[in-house]
Amino acid sequence: MRTQVVIIGGGPSGLLLGQLLHTIGVDAVVIERKTRDYVLSRIRAGVLERGTVDLLRQAGVDGRLHTEGLIHEGTMISLDDEMFRLNFTKTTGHPVIVYGQTEVTRDLFDARAACGAKTVFEAEEVVIGNVEGSAPTVSYTHEGRRHTITCDIVAGCDGFHGVSRQTIPQDKRREFEKVYPFGWLGVLSETPPVHHDLIYANSARGFALCSMRNANLSRYYIQCSMGDNAEDWSDEAFWEELKHRLPPEIAATLVTGPTIEKSIAPLRSFVCEPMRFGQLFLCGDAAHIVPPTGAKGLNTAASDVHYLFQGLKAFYGSNDSSGLEQYSAKALARVWKAERFSWWFTSLMHRFPEQTEFELKMQRAELEFLRTSQSAQAAMAENYVGLPY
Ligand code: FAD
Ligand code: DHB
Repeated sequence: MRTQVVIIGGGPSGLLLGQLLHTIGVDAVVIERKTRDYVLSRIRAGVLERGTVDLLRQAGVDGRLHTEGLIHEGTMISLDDEMFRLNFTKTTGHPVIVYGQTEVTRDLFDARAACGAKTVFEAEEVVIGNVEGSAPTVSYTHEGRRHTITCDIVAGCDGFHGVSRQTIPQDKRREFEKVYPFGWLGVLSETPPVHHDLIYANSARGFALCSMRNANLSRYYIQCSMGDNAEDWSDEAFWEELKHRLPPEIAATLVTGPTIEKSIAPLRSFVCEPMRFGQLFLCGDAAHIVPPTGAKGLNTAASDVHYLFQGLKAFYGSNDSSGLEQYSAKALARVWKAERFSWWFTSLMHRFPEQTEFELKMQRAELEFLRTSQSAQAAMAENYVGLPY
């Protein structure tokens, strides 16, 4: 079989790229290792930057996002018992939208099915070949049979553990990594959110985040130890710990209930350079990971898709490969800024093992500066709502 673009990975970046290509008449096949239901069962990001929302609009999948997404014009930040609000729209003119990654993915799957574009689920043993030539191949096993697709371009959108990055020879890539000495324990519960804004909390017992999906679906996270198992955290223990980390007036209004999902995510910063090797282009978590503080993971995956889509549009529309040539440099310039912001916000809000009294004073002084300085708030808001493409 032959197609123009093979997209490896049916997560948000692969599906968004596929839908954008569909709008300009470029054929793409998506090869996904898991089932649709499995992909939709992964509860992940929740905050969309304006750039991501705009890409979803260009892809024609922003209908439900606009009716069901929650517009957030600011966020609360707390340190122990004190809390202040940071207003995004006042400083940047833009809000963010709270709309779960699961819903984004569902909308993209539905749009893909509606336009009849080909998606192979449960593809095993995916192998990328001949990326240094002009006709790369992607082979995979499906229902016991081996298949090979020949194409012009391979988009590696298969996440951190995918095959795409590993296809780039080790001496042709450099990897930069920082692993944080804690994880996030996240729960989803059918309870009303504790506050209409998100709350990022720095407390003596560690970080906590209060987020939401809708008026009766809350998403909460607490910093936990690296060795913790989600199963060992009872619902009662989770709610108790969360309450200890929030200002008392917030903790007093927290509505608790049974959790419907509970999982632990490790925290890591990671970048692979370059993001292109021959005709293989890496997008999203395949090329980089941020710690989740500040919600940049999904949004940075979307900005990669923007640059790759612009490159492919010029390539297929006017035989101009300059956008593809510049893809890695352009995407990485924005990736590193998202890495910096996520690293900064993680460092500011978490308790680190062996943190000295001096380092705690620095955190406190920086949060106090953020609370009182218009320019510090503007810098934070500019990054949070998303830097321009
Ligand atoms: P993915 O979503 O990882 O999608 C990759 C797809 O490729 C998957 O469907 C996978 O099954 C498929 N795949 C993998 N290997 C192969 C293969 N060999 N062949 C074919 N298909 C393959 N970000 C936030 O902003 N906020 C959060 O709260 C947050 N929480 C997270 C929690 C967890 C546990 C994780 C892992 C990530 C979280 N993120 C969060 C990050 C965010 O979800 C990601 O940045 C986003 O999913 C990236 O999208 P992607 O499409 O690039 O990769
Ligand atoms: C969510 C996750 C984040 O990492 C974040 O910074 C904000 C919100 C969420 O899952 O809702």
